[in-house]
Amino acid sequence: MSVPREKYLSPVWKDGLFQNKVLFCTGGAGTICSMQVRAFVALGGNACVIGRNPQKTEQGAKDIAAVRPGAKVIGIGNVDVRDPKMLKDAADRCAKELGGIDFAIAGAAGNFLAPMAQLSPNAFKSVMDIDALGSYNTAKAVLPYLVESAKRNPNSGKSGSAQGTGGRMIFVSATFHYRGQPLQAHVAAAKAAVDQISHSVAIEYGPYGITSNIITPGPIAGTEGMERLAKSDEASVKASKKNIPLGRWGETREIADATTYLFSEAGSYVNGNTLVVDGGAWRTSGASQGEGWDYPDFILSGAAVEGVKGGKRNGSKL
Ligand code: HXC
Repeated sequence: MSVPREKYLSPVWKDGLFQNKVLFCTGGAGTICSMQVRAFVALGGNACVIGRNPQKTEQGAKDIAAVRPGAKVIGIGNVDVRDPKMLKDAADRCAKELGGIDFAIAGAAGNFLAPMAQLSPNAFKSVMDIDALGSYNTAKAVLPYLVESAKRNPNSGKSGSAQGTGGRMIFVSATFHYRGQPLQAHVAAAKAAVDQISHSVAIEYGPYGITSNIITPGPIAGTEGMERLAKSDEASVKASKKNIPLGRWGETREIADATTYLFSEAGSYVNGNTLVVDGGAWRTSGASQGEGWDYPDFILSGAAVEGVKGGKRNGSKL
């Protein structure tokens, strides 16, 4: 399936940015990660996409390779991120066939909506295992290669080095654990762990020149995440958008652009951080606190807060 370039890249990046570099991405055939990989490959890189479903993974790799003549994209299917040996074998194969691994994305995730009352211990464990253990297994499998890449591409802070960057890792996370989210006890716990794994990589592998950061997508249109987490009828979509400061869902391109930034020279000194790409959504997730205070109508009305202790101040000059 051919995807128009504006779906995965803004026209601000330099062609050839990732020439001769290799990206390893778990969940790489998914709706968000495939765009992250597409952007990387369009800008000159090669990639391995890892997944459980062999047909989906191999077809996904073929589709991504079509973005640039000569691109090498290998789909490695039948890999469950819960199995460290499978991941190590996949990383070894990727490095052998493409000459190394310079960048990695831990993107494989499991998600469904369920209240704790309907969430068995095994269901909780499944998501913990896919997200948290799977991200750890991914890091363990790729880090020896990323250390080698960081040696070849020193993170010196000098601009315009001919060889570009390498030795960088991104974990894909969520915002649910920032403020709390019903029906997501399993995912909130798992993504909190994912965040901490990224921070540990940043701390322990930074001294080798590696950067590790988190990209946290908000509601992104046309993704499996939105299919699993949000109702798609017009009224629900409208209500969902109303709660987002930017008033819209994000585009997959906006996640791919954030990825390109962190992997490029522009992101060289960003380490141990979280880039939340959600239009500000998580900050307003607790916004509506009473009737008549609907977000953003109340803000837009210019009205003052009344009816509570500490509300409108009489005589204020503002
Ligand atoms: C309650 C459920 C359930 C549900 C599964 N289970 N679905 N419990 N409600 N809707 C329970 C099962 O009954 C079982 O528990 C346990 O979970 C494991 O289920 P299996 O099907 O055996 O597991 P497995 O085949 O490993 O599948 C894992 C999975 C599945 C997470 C359950 O959904 C999956 O493979 N998902 C991968 C794709 C995915 O989810 N992508 C999401 C990407 S979107 P019992 O007790 O019965 O044994 C994303 C959103 C990010 O991540 C959002 C950012 C804004």
